[in-house]
Amino acid sequence: MEKNIYGEGMSKLEIRQMEEADIKQTVKMISYYNKEHSLCALRDFKEFFLNNGVNRKANFLIALINYEIVGCMGYHSDSDQDAEDVYWTTYLYIHPNYYRQGIASKLSLEIEKRIQNIGGRKIYLDIGNAEDQPEAILFHTKHGYKKEGELIDYFRDGENKLLFGKKIK
Ligand SMILES: CC(C)(COP(=O)(O)OP(=O)(O)OC[C@H]1O[C@@H](n2cnc3c(N)ncnc32)[C@H](O)[C@@H]1OP(=O)(O)O)[C@@H](O)C(=O)NCCC(=O)NCCS
Repeated sequence: MEKNIYGEGMSKLEIRQMEEADIKQTVKMISYYNKEHSLCALRDFKEFFLNNGVNRKANFLIALINYEIVGCMGYHSDSDQDAEDVYWTTYLYIHPNYYRQGIASKLSLEIEKRIQNIGGRKIYLDIGNAEDQPEAILFHTKHGYKKEGELIDYFRDGENKLLFGKKIK
């Protein structure tokens, strides 16, 4: 399995593909941020592995420090067959004890590289209400994503979905 190791000694960060056995710990890590999100993640991770899991067009990566899962992020191709080189990133979460140490940046750049390598042209992601997730907006803006749209009352009344995109080719 392909791995990337950053740093040295005990605190070195490993980024690798998520395996089915990692689901429980990854979901627990997400629950430290938001219980509801962690239940959605559990559903989607299980479904992903049920449907044959990792493939060229979809994957979940995890970040580990000393065997502890400290971050995750996924991607998949767009469902529109006329937009084959468009990808979406999903489920970016970092363990709160490890914020602002560059872990999300490493996951995000690793995923961009993988998407580029399989011919991706554009990456999208969605974020909830701007006031609920200011750090996510700052993070993605720093990485070159721009707001391209907003779906009003998408999740429920008063809960919009913001669409951010970045051209990688
Ligand atoms: C958003 C999130 C993924 C960032 O993870 P992280 O590992 O702390 O991010 P990084 O350390 O790689 O941050 C890179 C840059 O993003 C910006 N950033 C990240 N978190 C920020 C915060 N809380 N406030 C302001 N800027 C922030 C900064 O520019 C930062 O660079 P700097 O530390 O040199 O100033 C993390 O806060 C998180 O998991 N939040 C909860 C879930 C979430 O919102 N996920 C995103 C869904 S789209």
